Amino acid sequence: SVLEMEVEQINKGKYKHYMQKEIHEQPESLTTTMRGRLIRGGACKSKTVLLGGLKDHLKTIRRSRRIVFVGCGTSYNAALASRPIVEELSGVPVTMEVASDLVDRQGPIYREDTAVFVSQSGETADTLQALDYALENGALCVGITNTVGSALARKTHCGVHINAGCEIGVASTKAYTSQIVVMAMLALAVGGDMISNEARREAIIDGLLDLPSKVKEVLKLDEEMKDLAELLINEQSLLVFGRGYNYATALEGALKVKEVALMHSEGILAGEMKHGPLALVDHNLPIVVIATRDACFSKQQSVIQQLHARKGRLIVMCTKGDSASVSVGGSCRVIEVPHVEDCLQPVLNVIPLQLLAYHLTVLRGHNVDQPRNLAKSVTTQ
Ligand code: AGP
Repeated sequence: SVLEMEVEQINKGKYKHYMQKEIHEQPESLTTTMRGRLIRGGACKSKTVLLGGLKDHLKTIRRSRRIVFVGCGTSYNAALASRPIVEELSGVPVTMEVASDLVDRQGPIYREDTAVFVSQSGETADTLQALDYALENGALCVGITNTVGSALARKTHCGVHINAGCEIGVASTKAYTSQIVVMAMLALAVGGDMISNEARREAIIDGLLDLPSKVKEVLKLDEEMKDLAELLINEQSLLVFGRGYNYATALEGALKVKEVALMHSEGILAGEMKHGPLALVDHNLPIVVIATRDACFSKQQSVIQQLHARKGRLIVMCTKGDSASVSVGGSCRVIEVPHVEDCLQPVLNVIPLQLLAYHLTVLRGHNVDQPRNLAKSVTTQ
């Protein structure tokens, strides 16, 4: 009805689509996710993390034999992005499970495991079935969700709400970045206050507090991403190469492009390039390479050189000021993003890809907020 349409326009404010609004809302949604959870505590006035819903279970999590992350789609990718920092700070091995695959395999889950279920809606059938399975097997079950009172929130033993605010676009954007922030805070909480980790912890907390302003800076790339979308509008396919902290960014960027722009796109672990994907490279296929500064930077530089040697059409994402060190002979298109502590870089790096997917979709004339064949929450199997 006309009324419904008017209400919708009010909800979208100055934006044309929910996805666009939710991308641009990220400085605020991340602020709400962190609100009241990063505090200055203790005699030495160092900063600590307080996650109310987990505090009685931290000891159990620390002592568990492994942490198993379970989710689907974007929620799985968020967990994958957080895996390295959870392993680093907790010292507990982390394994990854796509919810449906865990159920298909009836994979081993033990009483000594902590299973962390990640879901924006908290109602995804595959994730809930995996949760039932883990509960039956006696694991400690932790929920990370955006939906208070959801089945996931009710059935898990404990958990954290991501507080990103209601997400309406089928393509998850602000929930993804808030999930990563929650799992980084979870890593800090589980890691505890070991002296050996103190400097790293402080740097991560400072990085978290800096995120909203840095996200604002990244959002200024909007026009640049629109120009890039114009260039790619008629392509059949787009590859995204990432590794380390940003392997998940590659998968998530590609998922955004395929689900809304209806363009084939694949996230590729750069370390696997020579084991197959390199065969695809020619002067036509556009390739995004994520090469922001972290421990993998020099490896990514050599990936860029090898792709360039095969005449790849490269679009390189790098840290501000690094254009010259990534663009072989000035021949690649470059996207510069601000720097933040390595484990939080995925929060910034995904945003240009969200913007690219958004603009590609609008330019290609597809439905941004409700892509064909998809539902916001997949409550059937
Ligand atoms: C995200 O853009 C997708 N629409 C989809 O992959 C989604 O993340 C997945 O269905 C999981 O949903 P959930 O987070 O609500 O469980």
